[in-house]
Amino acid sequence: MNSLLSNITKVISGLCLLGVVTGDLLASDTYQGYLLYNQSCFLCHGDDGKGHGPLASKLDVNVADLTNGDGLRSRTGRALFQLIQGTVRHGTSDAMPQWGLALAAPQIDAIVSYVKFLQKSSFELPGDPELGEKVYKNKCVACHGRHGEGNGPLAHVINISPANHTDSNKMSTFTNKQLIDVVTLGTSGKSLMPGWKNRLSEEEIKGVVSYIRLLSNY
Ligand code: HEC
Ligand code: HEC
Repeated sequence: MNSLLSNITKVISGLCLLGVVTGDLLASDTYQGYLLYNQSCFLCHGDDGKGHGPLASKLDVNVADLTNGDGLRSRTGRALFQLIQGTVRHGTSDAMPQWGLALAAPQIDAIVSYVKFLQKSSFELPGDPELGEKVYKNKCVACHGRHGEGNGPLAHVINISPANHTDSNKMSTFTNKQLIDVVTLGTSGKSLMPGWKNRLSEEEIKGVVSYIRLLSNY
């Protein structure tokens, strides 16, 4: 155990020197889409995508429910992309802007991923993902990896298999409460997932769980 701990310390201090832990985390498409959606879309479509944003009541048309409207769920990623870009017209009004005028293709791809998340995920985000991103970068990437795939640098030097947070099938088997509990208390027995009860606030834990929800691409 002592040699294990000293290995961990060496790796963590090495990481800090290299700036891996504090360096830029390459955000998933869904997380980037979340950020863009909250700049460009929530005003009309609302936080939850159901079409009740603060601007919606001021328009004389109905804003589409992105989670359940008119067969929207069955639309392919490509079709959603074109609707958002504005290269394919939809509906009867001009109230939905042509985002191709303002956003580049990779940004629209990211938004499509987030819209699909809104359609598919049965879980609400319990906290603030932006706070969660900071926590993840500081406390979780050493084991879970920069993209959350479970392949952080510590996983290579000690014998652990951190969960792959980009695996939406696996992650959807956990409720928000279960995720909050596991981050708060850690896993039991010999498994090396630490608990963060005295190191992170409840808000930070809810935030990091929200961030984890946005690590899968759709
Ligand atoms: C100014 C308000 C407004 C904003 C901002 C807005 N939309 Fe819309 N959107 C609408 C309206 C209104 C419709 C319905 C158009 C119709 O049916 O005539 C719509 C329709 C859509 C549809 C098609 C739904 C369907 O069933 O065909 C998608 C997809 C969509 N919006 C995505 C987005 C995304 C993504 C963003 C942000 C990048 C966004 N919208 C920003 C008003 C808005
Ligand atoms: C020392 C390495 C390490 C660190 C640091 C770490 N984890 Fe883990 N984590 C693990 C391991 C190992 C597992 C797999 C546990 C298992 O399968 O028994 C895991 C599993 C998980 C799971 C899935 C739980 C499950 O039952 O499979 C979640 C959620 C999680 N970690 C979140 C986090 C968050 C959030 C942070 C940062 C606040 C974090 N982890 C930091 C090692 C780590």
